[in-house]
Order: sequence, then C-alpha cells, then structure tokens
Amino acid sequence: MGTGMLELTSESLVGKGLHREVHVHPNDSSKCVKVVVLRGEEETRREQAYYHFLQRKNIEWVSLPRFYGNEETNIGPGAVFDLIRDDDGQVSKTLEFYLDNLESYQALIPSIAESLRFLKADLISQNIITMTLKPKNMVIQRLSQQTHCLIIDNIGNSDVLAISSYIPYFGRLKIERKWDKFKALLVRQFSHKLAINDFIEHL
Ligand SMILES: Nc1ncnc2c1ncn2[C@@H]1O[C@H](COP(=O)(O)OP(=O)(O)OP(=O)(O)O)[C@@H](O)[C@H]1O
Ligand SMILES: [Mg+2]
Repeated sequence: MGTGMLELTSESLVGKGLHREVHVHPNDSSKCVKVVVLRGEEETRREQAYYHFLQRKNIEWVSLPRFYGNEETNIGPGAVFDLIRDDDGQVSKTLEFYLDNLESYQALIPSIAESLRFLKADLISQNIITMTLKPKNMVIQRLSQQTHCLIIDNIGNSDVLAISSYIPYFGRLKIERKWDKFKALLVRQFSHKLAINDFIEHL
C-alpha cells in the first residue's frame, strides 16, 4: 500500500458527515480513507472493536464494507474501508439521497425496497448488530439488474460483550427493534412524500 503518509486533498474528498471526511484512497480507488475531523474518536474506537469482532466471526461482507486497518494521512489517522461504487464507477449515493429525490427515482423504489428487505434478513442471519440505523448512513449500490444496500457508518454494539452479540435469539430481537425504529425515522423524515408510506409499509 505504498509508503509514508497518504496525501488527502479536496480532490480526493468523496463524502463528509458530521465527524469524518471520506476520501478516495490515493493508491487504490476501490478503497476509501475516513479521517475524524470533529470529536469522533469514541465512535471510531467502538466501530473498530466491533469490526474486529466481526472479522473473528468470519462473516460474509455483504452488507458492510470491509475494513483494512489504519494509515497515517496528512490530516490525521485514517481508517481504510471498501469504497462502494455503482457499476458505472460512480461512488454510490446514500439512501437519504434517493429518498430526498424520490421524484427522479420512482422506478428504482421497488428495487431499493427489495434491497432493504435483503439487508434486514442478512443482519439477522449473520447476527450483525448496528447502532441507530439512519438513511444517511446507508448507501444504495446500483448494479445493472438490481440494487444493493450497505451500512457504511454507525456499525457496532455499544457493548461488545452484550448478550445480543453472542446469542442470535437476542440479537434478532435487537435487530428487529432497530429496524422498527428505522422505519419510524423514515416516516418522520419523509412522510410528506406521497409514495413513501407504501414503500415503508413493506420493509
Ligand atoms: N464506504 C463508503 N462507500 C461509499 N460512500 C461512503 C462510504 N463511507 C462513507 N461514504 C460517504 O461519506 C459520507 C460520510 O461518511 P460517514 O457517514 O462515515 O461519516 P460520519 O462523519 O461518521 O457521519 P455522521 O454524520 O453520520 O457521523 C456518507 O454519508 C457517504 O455519503
Ligand atoms: Mg455518517
């Protein structure tokens, strides 16, 4: 992966949340580097602890980008993950983006709903516990015949030793609670849009 410090610039920036900047990895365009820019150290620690737990469990990385470790950058320590791209090479956009612009993406809605149902089933079958699920922390990867939804932020169990991480029955209950809250959040955030209620009802 090259030597020395990674040089991140405004050119390499692909996304920014409240706490982190996300850049294309300068040596590998299939990966991104996330750097905390505002009070996110605790979240990063929790995220990496949970990622290590999932790596030890040897899960299939269907619903989460893989984590490749940390590298130094010119703007601070960076965490390297898969950068999710559509099949045309564009960086995938968030679920929030598609729901904000629903008018332009009506035709995609059944496929997005299907990928969300698939995501929920995968979280349950692999017992992957998330923190609060938010549409700005999920990306919709557009492939030629379908879409695929991945969670790109707020992964992890606030307590890695929590019983839900080890006993799938309790994990499932927790995931279902998170999912119900996610649906309630979608209703609050997007219910002014006519097409959305039918969409949410089928998740
Ligand atoms: N692996 C990825 N693949 C594609 N895009 C990504 C990826 N990770 C992040 N992004 C983009 O960058 C944005 C910010 O990333 P992220 O959510 O990790 O930052 P954050 O500061 O932790 O967010 P928050 O505001 O939720 O705390 C995302 O909303 C998304 O648009
Ligand atoms: Mg985020």
